[in-house]
Amino acid sequence: MNKAENKAEKIVIFDTTLRDGEQSPGCSMNLDEKVGFARQLEKLGVDVIEAGFAIASDGDFAAIQAVAETCRTVKVASLCRTIEADVVRAAESLKNAAFPRIHTFAATSDIHLEFKLKKTRREVLRMVEENVRLARELCDDVEFSAEDATRSDINFLCEVLTVAMEAGATTLNVPDTVGYTTPTEIYETIKTVKEKVVKDRRDITISTHCHNDLGLAVANSLAAVTAGARQVECTINGIGERAGNAALEEVIMALRVRADQFQYENSINAALLYPTSQMLAEMVSFGVQPNKAIVGRNAFAHEAGIHQHGVLSNPLCYEIMTPESVGVPSNDIVLGKHSGRHALKSKLVELGYELSAAEIEETYRNFTALADRKKKIYDQDLIGLLPLALKNNAAQTVGTYELIAA
Ligand code: KIV
Ligand code: ZN
Repeated sequence: MNKAENKAEKIVIFDTTLRDGEQSPGCSMNLDEKVGFARQLEKLGVDVIEAGFAIASDGDFAAIQAVAETCRTVKVASLCRTIEADVVRAAESLKNAAFPRIHTFAATSDIHLEFKLKKTRREVLRMVEENVRLARELCDDVEFSAEDATRSDINFLCEVLTVAMEAGATTLNVPDTVGYTTPTEIYETIKTVKEKVVKDRRDITISTHCHNDLGLAVANSLAAVTAGARQVECTINGIGERAGNAALEEVIMALRVRADQFQYENSINAALLYPTSQMLAEMVSFGVQPNKAIVGRNAFAHEAGIHQHGVLSNPLCYEIMTPESVGVPSNDIVLGKHSGRHALKSKLVELGYELSAAEIEETYRNFTALADRKKKIYDQDLIGLLPLALKNNAAQTVGTYELIAA
């Protein structure tokens, strides 16, 4: 086996925070916010930024244009239906992009054909063929998505994907639009698409796009990767339609922490996951749930005494990754005997906890014991040290993660 054959395959990270994420309630952003966030995604290292749905509104069109003009090292995707006017509008929105991608979609499930598109299978096939071909005439990089793929007849799904591929699409996306599938089922679906559609076409990438209605979006995305998908579509903090999309930070850390199971590369700088999550949380109208994996306030907090004891002896007892690895800033605390109480108190006020003198005393005792043993103390560690009643009554605020000075 030569060196090239040894190289791990890459998983393309396609971020749709600005499209599927932004279109969900409470998540709308203005143009400056979108461009600022797109810059952050570029720094984070995503491969594709889906910046909007060009024909949906003038605002979306302008945002795609602005993102395409600003982000020069990343692919910028513009979404459109397989309708001529949509495809043309998507192409226009990408006119100044360094690396444009037209992302076009059509539903393939019988329920969508009958009640939404009101088209026969034959009509859908024709629509896909004509418009993927048009998209390919206007842009070298075309992705086709079979909306509601996971509730579609597998033979028809394969037929549509084959038509899209032959018309010029080089990324074939298999969305779980309504968050209905399961890991074993999507594994079989992707495997079938690989065997029956892609075959030996090495220029074709199979993509997965999972929604979280049953809480399975990340698990399903990973199962799709195991079956052969090499692009994962996801959003920061898992925002998106209804229960959201697969959370980018969870997908990335699962790939990284379980590299024994997933021997693939990706270009994400994981140390920017937490700051990116915080940036988004500040722009949309809700914060990150405290127990959210990877980026939640409690994701690294150890509350139970037995856990604290284990972590103090060796963090690996209960930590499968470090807060630093995802960019949670640490509090490098240098506590003097007395000044420490004051610093601790003001930090806790900043985090939203008002403590009585007795509570401060109790927390301070726990804190010094922890600070003795652990070099880096995180806000999440501090929350873990609080008296139980306080933790239960705590406001659900997002920590600011600044340094505590003694
Ligand atoms: O969920 C979905 O099917 C989509 C497509 C447009 C890719 O968002
Ligand atoms: Zn979606």
